[in-house]
Amino acid sequence: MHESDLTPHLPRFLQELTEFLAIPSISADPAFKGDVRRAADWLVKHFKDLGASDITLHETPGHPIVTARVGNDPSKPTVLVYGHYDVQPPDPIELWQTPPFTATVRDGKLYARGACDDKGQVFIHLKALEMLRKGGDLPCNLKFLIEGEEECGSTHLEEFVLKNKELLKCDAVVVSDTSMIATDIPSLTVGLRGLCYIEVTLTGPNRDLHSGQYGGAVENPVRALARMITQLHDEQGRITIPGFYDTVRVYDAATRKAMNAIPYDEESYKKELDLKALKGEEGYTTIERVGIRPCLDVNGIWGGYTGEGAKTVLPSKAHAKISMRLVPDQDYKIATKQLMDHLQSLTPPTMRIEMRDLHGGPWGLTPMQGRAFHAAQQAFEHVWNKAPVPVFDGGSIPIVSVMGKALGVDVVLLGFGLHSDAIHSPNEHFTVSHIPKGIATVLEFYKQFAAA
Ligand code: BES
Ligand code: MN
Ligand code: MN
Repeated sequence: MHESDLTPHLPRFLQELTEFLAIPSISADPAFKGDVRRAADWLVKHFKDLGASDITLHETPGHPIVTARVGNDPSKPTVLVYGHYDVQPPDPIELWQTPPFTATVRDGKLYARGACDDKGQVFIHLKALEMLRKGGDLPCNLKFLIEGEEECGSTHLEEFVLKNKELLKCDAVVVSDTSMIATDIPSLTVGLRGLCYIEVTLTGPNRDLHSGQYGGAVENPVRALARMITQLHDEQGRITIPGFYDTVRVYDAATRKAMNAIPYDEESYKKELDLKALKGEEGYTTIERVGIRPCLDVNGIWGGYTGEGAKTVLPSKAHAKISMRLVPDQDYKIATKQLMDHLQSLTPPTMRIEMRDLHGGPWGLTPMQGRAFHAAQQAFEHVWNKAPVPVFDGGSIPIVSVMGKALGVDVVLLGFGLHSDAIHSPNEHFTVSHIPKGIATVLEFYKQFAAA
């Protein structure tokens, strides 16, 4: 199917997607538990309308998992499509030009939380399915696994996958939850980083103190925490945690050269972010820093008085949320422990430290050969008129490696977002033309995969 054949359907597609995007399925915030479920229910209804079979909403101790199936012809290969219907919180809400849950089209882009990550991309698969149902002929049997906890660590999905190998049995997994380099530079993500995420609370005095009565005599936990955080990197931008780099894979010069050959312009990268300069681990390019090197970030830091005006206070507590992106062959459980041990050792005797492991997940590498990858390459070339470039992306989708291992099949990352889509940020959007193009790519992938 050519993308132009989809044009007549586009207004309806946008209307349906707008409905899906209107549900604030924010998985991280318990206040939205009901909305997360409503998004799962929306999917169930949509699969019903599409005539899918075995549509099931699986309860978990967290948010539900939706599975469905279409076709059951033993002579055809089976593709499992994975995606997520949960979204990130929209804040800071005041920075949105239009409300995050009222999808709005401006300049060929659809603005809403989840437009790209990942409802828009899940929707592409629903509409590819719709087109297949209308065409009457399925090249592959299809299975769908759409979860509601990706944005908070896929907490219950690993167990679900391990317990439901038969239900999920397939010949390849397709995930549309990544981005491509540019509309005119299609790419296929072949590497994702792992993740670990902790919350730290540092306690000094047992109550907030008058900073005049006590300042200078009692150590301030905000200052102590800031000092500890500063010590996590050295002057070369390397992480100082003992043993942290022991298992980091070293790539040979040829691989690094190939990795750096992808189209990338540092000047426009900086310009898009309004940055005068970039900073990272010495000895590595930006592409390498994001793709094959680990990093440590402070996602948030708070403590003391942050309201209007001045309040003189020496706070009792300081907090930070710290995460690390991990690369082959690091183990996220070991890295989490190393980080916690190191923070413990940096804690001054004036402070008590408490740490909570929020979540973690493994890195993933997808094979650059084999039937699924070739079908994906051909599908991109067919629809976007250019062979896709393989890229190592810095983000994380922990379940990718779990599914690959548990189901014993190749995973392909058929992503249709753009880096500039502002996922997790205010004004997240998705390029409207990527909807018909994405549908055409998915359909071509099924065709090529079945023919291979
Ligand atoms: N879709 C993203 C991951 C992504 C985005 C990979 C762009 C590659 C390119 C996913 O929804 C996401 O945000 N994952 C989280 C990890 C999760 C455990 C919270 C992330 O990477 O922060
Ligand atoms: Mn996502
Ligand atoms: Mn995300």
